[in-house]
Amino acid sequence: MIRLTINGQERAVDVPEDMPLLWVVRDELGMTGTKFGCGVGQCGACTVHVDGAPVRACQTPVGTLAAGSRVTTIEGISGKAAEAVQAAWRKLDVVQCGYCQSGQIMSAIALVAGNRNPSDADIDAAMDGNVCRCATYQRIRAAIKDAAQ
Ligand code: FES
Repeated sequence: MIRLTINGQERAVDVPEDMPLLWVVRDELGMTGTKFGCGVGQCGACTVHVDGAPVRACQTPVGTLAAGSRVTTIEGISGKAAEAVQAAWRKLDVVQCGYCQSGQIMSAIALVAGNRNPSDADIDAAMDGNVCRCATYQRIRAAIKDAAQ
């Protein structure tokens, strides 16, 4: 049995230690906001936070999470940066098909929480691992700048 704190709740899951966190979140805990895209750490659709930092859930065996680490999925986001990012996403109508957007938002929240004045280079660096097939990149950049104000 593996215990983890997810979205502020203690959960226990009976899964192998090498199961990717992505499948624990989606299949064991039923939180399907975190998406499977590539499965090899290249697209960012599976981005969640571990202790506030963005990680690729498809590349994170659940057994490697340190005891006491806090996992946050798109279902559990809260706080100033999360509210600002969500408001900016709505205001600027960022989403097209939407599939990648939970991962985009998780990366954006981590950026905005730590940097209230991100440059284009900061945004490029933080969002580099999040791919959008609809190419909403310009709106994502504008929304991050809006959220950071
Ligand atoms: Fe994890 Fe693509 S599904 S990075």
